[in-house]
Amino acid sequence: MGKAINNIGKHHHKTLVIGLFGFGVVGEGLYKALQQTPSLKATIKKICIKHPGKKRNAPEELFTTDKDVLLNDPEINVIVEVINESEPAFDIVSTAFLHGKHVVSASKKMIAEHLPRLLELQKQTGKSFLCEAAACASIPVIRNLEEYYDNDLLHSLKAIVNGSTNFILTKMFEDKLNFSEALLLAQQLGFAESDPSLDVEGYDAVNKWTILLTHAYGIIEHPGNIVFNGIQNIQLSDALVAKEKHFDIKLVAQAKKLINGKVAAFVLPQFVKHDDHLSFVKNEYNGVVIESSFADKQFFYGKGAGSFPTASAVLSDISALRYDYRYEYKKLYHHTVHELSNDFYVKTYVSFDDWKFVPRERFEWIEEWHAEAERKYLVGVLPFNDLKENNWWRENNTSLILAPEPVIEDVEIRKLKKKSLELAGV
Ligand SMILES: NC(=O)c1ccc[n+]([C@@H]2O[C@H](COP(=O)([O-])OP(=O)(O)OC[C@H]3O[C@@H](n4cnc5c(N)ncnc54)[C@H](OP(=O)(O)O)[C@@H]3O)[C@@H](O)[C@H]2O)c1
Repeated sequence: MGKAINNIGKHHHKTLVIGLFGFGVVGEGLYKALQQTPSLKATIKKICIKHPGKKRNAPEELFTTDKDVLLNDPEINVIVEVINESEPAFDIVSTAFLHGKHVVSASKKMIAEHLPRLLELQKQTGKSFLCEAAACASIPVIRNLEEYYDNDLLHSLKAIVNGSTNFILTKMFEDKLNFSEALLLAQQLGFAESDPSLDVEGYDAVNKWTILLTHAYGIIEHPGNIVFNGIQNIQLSDALVAKEKHFDIKLVAQAKKLINGKVAAFVLPQFVKHDDHLSFVKNEYNGVVIESSFADKQFFYGKGAGSFPTASAVLSDISALRYDYRYEYKKLYHHTVHELSNDFYVKTYVSFDDWKFVPRERFEWIEEWHAEAERKYLVGVLPFNDLKENNWWRENNTSLILAPEPVIEDVEIRKLKKKSLELAGV
């Protein structure tokens, strides 16, 4: 008994010596946050950056441009990687594992693109790899999906995972800024990635979704295999239609367990009803709605970007290392693994400049069309596979926005509905 208590005591006093890669928005935020958290007993021994000439708000002797100074230091037992370049980040993280160090990272692009190898490295070395900041920054969604939600009970997840596009949409629709003004403001406030196309065209969101699918359902999929788009095609006319129908437009990431046990997952712009939890998520905030058996819906809300909010998740991961916390990937290793499926239908709104850009024959049925205005639109039901296999819906200025409850999988209801529309002459 005495021994057990001693052991517990020991764990609490584990000292963490950190080698930090990156001193930008997140790295500097973490440095300041750690200074205000003395109880953590974690110290930054060395910081590796890229450009030695920049002025830094920390003692000069902490900095180096030589990554090996950190990676080869036996005293450093934790590498925190918060740089903005994906391939060097992967190199740093892999070497850190092989040198027996725990790793904390916020680099979603790197993680999403290298998930299989990162899983292998964790198995091979037995070291922890924590990345809470990589998805929804300050919201502890990864740890919750890992620890709380059992695979069988998790019906669906839908989320706003990109603070920058959500900020832009909010500023466009509520403050009437135009797209470039809203983007500039997001960049000035530190919410946007250095390369804005990563946010605007949906790459950042699908990278985060790839990571969350692993922790939610044990699905390991390359982000390139998940259907996604950003907000680059959304037009003012779409906003007017949304307003008329009492909807907001949001970039929504979704995963839903289908009747056949497979999972539908995608990241696309969507009409969101005003009473939907996600409608409440504005500016740079993120939100995640989890639907599970018995608990029904739960809503997580918080800052999805920015210096301190992101640093807070990194800090929490560092703190978790004091008691040797690691993701067990229960859904991947201890359950029947789920597969992605594209075999379902989606209800969607499409606006376009000319009918010739829209393959009407691919729609199962069309419920509404408006051809009189300069900008035309229709609302109809498409096989999801059509979005996976074709690009017409993101080319030629065409804008596709999903309906509020987009997934349709009940084939019988679908057939009946189609038949009734045919009988009505539509
Ligand atoms: N900003 C956010 O709100 C946020 C939220 C969640 C996740 N993230 C992720 O966190 C990571 C960092 O983002 P950030 O916004 O802090 O980026 P940032 O402000 O652009 O800073 C990047 C830092 O990385 C350093 N760096 C770049 N390449 C390097 C290399 N090869 N070796 C060593 N250092 C290198 C840079 O050095 P110099 O200072 O010398 O240029 C800089 O200090 C990214 O992966 C990002 O996706 C960011």
